[in-house]
Amino acid sequence: MTVEQTLSIIKPDATRRNLTGKINAKIEDAGLKIIAQKRLQLTKQQAEAFYAVHKERAFFGELVDFMISGPVVVQALEGENAVARYREVMGATNPANADEGTIRREFAESIEANSVHGSDSLDNAAIEIAFFFSKIEIAA
Ligand code: RTP
Ligand code: MG
Repeated sequence: MTVEQTLSIIKPDATRRNLTGKINAKIEDAGLKIIAQKRLQLTKQQAEAFYAVHKERAFFGELVDFMISGPVVVQALEGENAVARYREVMGATNPANADEGTIRREFAESIEANSVHGSDSLDNAAIEIAFFFSKIEIAA
């Protein structure tokens, strides 16, 4: 077991419904520690840069429009196997396929408005945390 850090984003569908605290409770109940957090409004350019890996996908334009449709809460999480652990806590991309008790099963509205993002690998986690946070903003 290794202690890892991962990036989480509470997406606009969730901030709109005032679910930040309920999602944070799920994160903390799962043993993950929120070591950095801020609420911000992404610009189109920032959202396109963050999701650049998906730029060839059919849903890219819609995804960017959704991610800038309201504020997001970006967070760095730390814990044992945090990258995989947080993806378990989030549940499947499509809430219809997400396990009972997961964030997406409980809160997501659709495959796109699915309430949270989590890094998909340790390498991407480091890149994504650095996208939003400087070292001085992270207190483990
Ligand atoms: P995320 O990156 O946000 O943690 O989600 P994920 O790994 O579970 O899913 P990914 O394949 O990376 O897709 C990124 C986000 O794009 C939106 N999406 N829309 N309309 C669609 O078919 C579709 N598919 C994906 C979702 O917001 C998804 O989380
Ligand atoms: Mg992904």
